[in-house]
Amino acid sequence: MNLSHKIGKLVQPLTYRRAWRRAQRFIFPLPVEPLLASLDQERLRQIQQRYARSSADYAKYADVDRWLRINRKRVQDLKLNRSLPKHVLDLGCGGGFFLFILKRLGHPVLGLDVDQFPLFTELLDLFDVQRVVWRIKALEPLPDLDQKFDWITAFSINFNLHYPAERLWGPAEWDFFLHDLQRHLAPGGKIFFGLNPTFGGHYHTSELRKFFIDRGANVEREQIFFDKGLRF
Ligand SMILES: C[S@@+](CC[C@H](N)C(=O)[O-])C[C@H]1O[C@@H](n2cnc3c(N)ncnc32)[C@H](O)[C@@H]1O
Repeated sequence: MNLSHKIGKLVQPLTYRRAWRRAQRFIFPLPVEPLLASLDQERLRQIQQRYARSSADYAKYADVDRWLRINRKRVQDLKLNRSLPKHVLDLGCGGGFFLFILKRLGHPVLGLDVDQFPLFTELLDLFDVQRVVWRIKALEPLPDLDQKFDWITAFSINFNLHYPAERLWGPAEWDFFLHDLQRHLAPGGKIFFGLNPTFGGHYHTSELRKFFIDRGANVEREQIFFDKGLRF
């Protein structure tokens, strides 16, 4: 079997999974327009005007239409647009786009993030999404959140990067973190992480990939999905 054949065999399941997800998004649509229309248009306009000329990287999140579309896909791929109400905690929730959509679908939601970017606070207010202000640190537990969650999510995360050393969290930090998350998870709860590309342009190391799989995750490129909970 030649190399291209071998690579083809490897990518096929991934290609099928992606095509299947695309098909499901088509079969179970989640229109963005009613979500947008439900917002206070005057407040949204004011926010967008304020950030229109900002050169700050995070000003891109003022494009609410674009980020709602990105997060609509996340909601659909996790099938939360066709699920009974679930308590969802989103770590590093940013402006709260993902949680806003979930809230509109009837899910009770809570965000957790640092309070660093005023735009995120303004968007969370606009979306009426509640956020716990907290900085996630390696080997330190999350605060008590007074409830258990059916889902804990985190998208495009960067709390797992050590600065200024530019080092990724390794299995020791992740193991601590997952044990701590277990404390906040309801029975049967699920965890989903969408990793960011890291300093070397990779999502994780092979050691970390094995670690996640040993803990019960399905790993698909940047997506780490504990769909049957954690295994210790
Ligand atoms: C790239 S943004 C992604 C935002 C959002 N999850 C999304 O996908 O649109 C990363 C987010 O993680 C937050 N964040 C970074 N380090 C964090 C930490 N140590 N603890 C909590 N939040 C953190 C940032 O404030 C920011 O909101």
